[in-house]
Amino acid sequence: MEKKVVDYSQAFTQIAKTANANIPFKKALNSIAKTATKSMDVAGCAIMLLSSEKGYLTVLTAYGLSDMFIRKGALNAHKSLPEIMKGKIAYIADATRDKRAQYPREAEMENIRSVIGLPLTGKGEIVGEFRVYTHEPKIFSNKEKQILLYAANIISMMIEKYELSRLLEGEKRTSTVRTRRSDKLTKLPPSTLHTSNFSHPSEEKFARLLDFYRLEWLYETRSFPIGWDNGKVIEMFTPDFYLPELDLYIELTTLKQSLITEKNRKIRMLKEIYPEVNIKLLNKGDYQKMLAKYGYAPVNLNKVRGVDHVLFNHSQIQERIRTVAKQISLEYGDKQLILIGVLKGVFCFMADLMRHLNIPVTVEFMGISYYGKDPDQKVKITMDVDRNIAGCHILMVEDIVDTGMTLNYVLKHLMSYNPASLKVCTLLDKRVRRIIDVTLDYTGFEIPDEFVVGYGLDYCGEYRNLPFIGVLDPRIIE
Ligand code: XMP
Ligand code: MG
Repeated sequence: MEKKVVDYSQAFTQIAKTANANIPFKKALNSIAKTATKSMDVAGCAIMLLSSEKGYLTVLTAYGLSDMFIRKGALNAHKSLPEIMKGKIAYIADATRDKRAQYPREAEMENIRSVIGLPLTGKGEIVGEFRVYTHEPKIFSNKEKQILLYAANIISMMIEKYELSRLLEGEKRTSTVRTRRSDKLTKLPPSTLHTSNFSHPSEEKFARLLDFYRLEWLYETRSFPIGWDNGKVIEMFTPDFYLPELDLYIELTTLKQSLITEKNRKIRMLKEIYPEVNIKLLNKGDYQKMLAKYGYAPVNLNKVRGVDHVLFNHSQIQERIRTVAKQISLEYGDKQLILIGVLKGVFCFMADLMRHLNIPVTVEFMGISYYGKDPDQKVKITMDVDRNIAGCHILMVEDIVDTGMTLNYVLKHLMSYNPASLKVCTLLDKRVRRIIDVTLDYTGFEIPDEFVVGYGLDYCGEYRNLPFIGVLDPRIIE
């Protein structure tokens, strides 16, 4: 076959022109990917960004590749062509065999052989990758490598320019808050870009919450084939989020009846075909409820004030605590136990629980920051235990476990101190809302998906003094 003669200078010009043209950012990037693909006569290109914690890559745009291949699953930046993360050009002759290819089977299905990848950089840091895929085993000529380097540099500049404009736009909107602009400009978080892809505002809000709890997430990273016709995939399902650390997919659902049946059917198929896949559903509309615990402003506190109904009265609470305490006393025997609680909600429960224990016990309190309006903020310990707990038996005492994100963070923190044992006792377990499966060793009551107050639990600081646990009038948090 005669080799195609290409005019490379035309490719250089085209890339520069696109970068400077007045077209939307992603479209421009896609067009550059297209020019690169055509000029080198390769299978396709992908422009990828590093995730917020920099462990994974997400495809920002791609040309010439199938949806299946683009959404083949989480791409670990340190396992797949790891040289790129060191700022080097990486090359794989055969992606179906090379150990540095994370998805050899998918490469085979897509008929991909060689892959070459280059780092995308901004302010001296690696922010993403530019990858090129071929159908035939291919050696890239110096001229081609030049084009790739040129494209990678142009793409890097475009990303930086785009991030900057978004940052300035954001500052304009919140101009009452004086940010130290010079600080921000030296360090552009790639996360601002990878949150621009969402198809629904609730997804972005949810991503922010995950960011706060330092949970790495990837958006629509894998498409699962769920329907075939003559061996050809005719239907796929793409969950909204993937949390690599937990190996968990999360799908935000809506309550719209017209969509719900179809969605449910797809999820049922997914679970049947891929029983090993861990997926959780979360209602989009529940987001408001999820934020209620952070004291997000009610519509009108003066209009409705109060508790809708009592869930557990004083004596029911005491009775249950006595039972749980007996169990704990029995299991720890004469081991010295440290109870640790996160303020403030837990103080009533902690006080009653420890008075019912008849084993040697001491108590510690911690403080952690709560999800707020500052999108850059992340969860942190505001008050740590003030003694060495290495080698000690710890019982983490919680008022309520909801999504499990708080407890997950706190337990990880405490584990870093190497205690002899670490168990969890919670008064309330709002199990239906769990996102992270933390193990609860002792539970007072399982409660329904409602916002509860009283016996230490608050809404906007109020209601802690109620001697019972009640459901807050839902009109307050709607
Ligand atoms: P996660 O979702 O991280 O939440 O498990 C745990 C923390 O959220 C608060 N929370 C509540 N507080 N009534 C409250 O007064 C509730 O219904 C409720 N649900 C969650 C609580 O501070 C807990 O530690
Ligand atoms: Mg709490």
